[in-house]
Amino acid sequence: MHAPVLLIGGSGFVGRAITARLVAQGYPLIIPTRRLTGQEQGPPIRWREGSVHEPRFLEALLLETGASGTVINLVGVLHDKPGNPYGPQFKAAHVTLVAQIIQSMQMLGTRRLLHMSALGADCAGLSMYQRSKGEGERLVRTSSLDWTIFRPSVIFGAQDNFINLFSKLARRFPFLPLARADGRFQPVSVDNVAEAMVRALALPQTLRQSYDLVGPEVLTLAQLVRFAARRAGHDRPIVPLPAWLGSLQALLFEHLPGPLLMSRDNLDSMRVDNVLPEGAPQVLDTVFGIRPEPLESLLK
Ligand SMILES: NC(=O)c1ccc[n+]([C@@H]2O[C@H](COP(=O)([O-])OP(=O)(O)OC[C@H]3O[C@@H](n4cnc5c(N)ncnc54)[C@H](OP(=O)(O)O)[C@@H]3O)[C@@H](O)[C@H]2O)c1
Repeated sequence: MHAPVLLIGGSGFVGRAITARLVAQGYPLIIPTRRLTGQEQGPPIRWREGSVHEPRFLEALLLETGASGTVINLVGVLHDKPGNPYGPQFKAAHVTLVAQIIQSMQMLGTRRLLHMSALGADCAGLSMYQRSKGEGERLVRTSSLDWTIFRPSVIFGAQDNFINLFSKLARRFPFLPLARADGRFQPVSVDNVAEAMVRALALPQTLRQSYDLVGPEVLTLAQLVRFAARRAGHDRPIVPLPAWLGSLQALLFEHLPGPLLMSRDNLDSMRVDNVLPEGAPQVLDTVFGIRPEPLESLLK
């Protein structure tokens, strides 16, 4: 019988892929959510409605998880108001919450933490996203917990928020104006990411290690968007924007109602290529025994 897993941020895109694997392997799962939708999958998953930012709620979740259980933290946000070194939402989701999770785990004796960060996370990074994710990582690394950190490049999957967003835009618009079109990524499959995290539960050598998770190919943003458009059945022309016009476009997006497409902070993140450093090992393969899937696998 496995010890329980507390999957914080488990209702999202990556969380769903991890949930499917953990349920299949018989792990008791506890998933908190800020709001139940009524569509949640039932037992063996125990859904708990509340805010993980609220210490009493978090502690109740950890008591349910127990000292021998595992915490997986997937909480992440993509946008925030400008701030220095980062805005309040980045601070709450990527820094304060992580500190609270660590403190509560230490207090209640739960030791194992799988923490989701992002490739490029860096306390001195160029964007608020990178700086806040970097600070969250720093807190995890300097804790006394049995941690493992995962740093994926952009994650793709049937229900992702990235390729699907550009597919939607390609359906709607005759051409796609694109800032930082030559920014480079190493897209990694959500199945590969979820599998690596689940396998880490049974691999003691992953304790106190950090893993950059990337796919087998380096693609520019323009190539990713072209793929998304082709997948949507609309091979739209891509119009690369100069940096100043891209910033202006992002500023405009930030002031439009509805879900934010692209912020100036997202563009700042893309000022550095989101790829594996030269000569770094492909850990999906060497550590986790997983063959990295290319983006084209989405078309199957
Ligand atoms: N997707 C990518 O391409 C990618 C790439 C690199 C790294 N990552 C990292 O991977 C993690 C998971 O990404 P994802 O794509 O699965 O994200 P997602 O679909 O947005 O899911 C994140 C989940 O976290 C919870 N959450 C969001 N904001 C929160 C807040 N302020 N306080 C508490 N809970 C909050 C939400 O749960 P409820 O709404 O149910 O409360 C949500 O379901 C994130 O940390 C992200 O930064 C993702």
